[in-house]
Amino acid sequence: MKKIKIVANWKCNPGTLKEAKVLFNLLTSELKKNFLILKDVETIVCPPFLYLPFFVFQVKNLKHYNLKFGAQNCFWEEKGPFTGEVSPLMLKNLGCQYVILGHSERRQILKETELMIGKKIKTALKAKLKPILCIGESLEEKKKKKTFQVLRRQLKIVFPEISKVIIAYEPVWAIGTAMPCPPGEAQKILFFLKKFSEKSKILYGGSVNSQNCKEYIKVGFDGLLVGSASLIPKEFVQILKNATNEI
Ligand code: PGA
Repeated sequence: MKKIKIVANWKCNPGTLKEAKVLFNLLTSELKKNFLILKDVETIVCPPFLYLPFFVFQVKNLKHYNLKFGAQNCFWEEKGPFTGEVSPLMLKNLGCQYVILGHSERRQILKETELMIGKKIKTALKAKLKPILCIGESLEEKKKKKTFQVLRRQLKIVFPEISKVIIAYEPVWAIGTAMPCPPGEAQKILFFLKKFSEKSKILYGGSVNSQNCKEYIKVGFDGLLVGSASLIPKEFVQILKNATNEI
């Protein structure tokens, strides 16, 4: 039976460490309760950098619950005069295993370019972190029928190491909009992406909830990237449970 990966992208939430600890404790107690059902799911929690140390240090006690940690970004150098940056080496040394890179919010708001994302992927791999590369077309690109062209361009930066990278297909128009990509449409993209690398794990992200999650697993995705629903522990664990039913 394959193991699916479900990523909780907390984005820039919550506002206090106290709230973050409550959220994390609720999540882990749900995971413990459902341990047997969830044995085929790897849960990857990606909180803001600042909260990571408080959770990562507990991971030894949580080893049996398939719980891993990731960051939402990293820099492309290991250390040095780069004010405000966090390196993959630091994340790895802290106990993280994953890092989300190229999220559309960073591409759009922070003006991250493909060149920057490519360098980040390389350094993350060198630090033995597993990069989760987010790719996806905007609504405008979709309307102009440029989806495949955009995805091809966004993927180019990970060659020849594509098989070491987890790819998250996140159509920009489906993120935070309550308008998820119809599973049949997402499956066409999945087949397209698989052509580049049979070995890469491919996740779906964009308005995933406990109702629609199973459809993406059913059509063949290797997991999910969950944003807003990951901030509601009960809903998030329901996603884990429902998605597991479809493996
Ligand atoms: P969403 O976010 O689930 O809130 O749409 C997904 C993401 O941005 O990773």
